[in-house]
Amino acid sequence: MQIIRDIATLHRAIAALKQGGKSVALVPTMGALHDGHLSLVQMGRRVADHVVVSIFVNPTQFGPNEDFASYPRDEARDAALLVEQGVALLWAPDVAVMYPGGHGTHIEVAELGADYCGAARPGHFDGVATVVAKLFNQVRPDIAIFGEKDWQQLAIIRRMARDLDFHLDILGAPIARDPDGLALSSRNAYLSPEQRSAAVAFPTALRAASAALANGGDMYETLAKAEAAIIAGGFDSVDYIALADADSLERLDIFRAPARLLAAARIGKTRLIDNYPVG
Ligand code: PAJ
Repeated sequence: MQIIRDIATLHRAIAALKQGGKSVALVPTMGALHDGHLSLVQMGRRVADHVVVSIFVNPTQFGPNEDFASYPRDEARDAALLVEQGVALLWAPDVAVMYPGGHGTHIEVAELGADYCGAARPGHFDGVATVVAKLFNQVRPDIAIFGEKDWQQLAIIRRMARDLDFHLDILGAPIARDPDGLALSSRNAYLSPEQRSAAVAFPTALRAASAALANGGDMYETLAKAEAAIIAGGFDSVDYIALADADSLERLDIFRAPARLLAAARIGKTRLIDNYPVG
């Protein structure tokens, strides 16, 4: 696996991979890789000739009081995992390569980015959309793969690619979970053993609420009950819990398919997100 840190070498390496009409799938990440990330890589191996993974902890998608400085970084470990998965190329630029001379231009996906995580994290999705557009231009993949774990992010990237005529296919990969149901996340590493055991309350409550809503349960009552169960399970607060149209992310008062139950909750200093299909 080649590890590349500058744009000129990247362009040469991508051109070589694409020789003979071979296809390239890109899996963008911020590193601290877990089995969720690796499931995206495995999907890439199935759908394309070569998989390129990017690791870039993107400063512009972190708020001033968020965990940019402390975000877990271990490139050597990540690279070893990617070699095992048969990844062709690791694109690992540093901040000066990604943002030479700062960043005067940004992409805002207005409607889809305002609610849910966008409300709690102002500017976050502008940072995501902008860096993903840059990654698309740098790597020029035929396919890009993102996790359904970040449902709002996936919807925003699909919309951005459509609005800006990016010529590639965007695939969503199912959420990888621990056996107790907690969605895998690099931020799970922040949880103490007690918090990790308590965290099961989050997916458990969402799964129950998703089933209740699909069976015609009252929206207000079901969401209130789920929120109470998450707090009773040991969480400090629920940022949001909402039923949304799966594509437009519009909030739904009454269940209609395709819908997605979206939620974020805080336990200690850690903010976890998750989502389930409804119906
Ligand atoms: P990161 O949080 O590292 O996630 C990289 C990709 O892995 C995302 O597409 C995310 O949805 C997916 N992923 C994370 N946990 C997953 C799980 N449990 N199951 C399935 N997929 C999972 O998301 C980002 O980085 C950044 O915002 C990025 C898109 C790289 C832009 O900076």
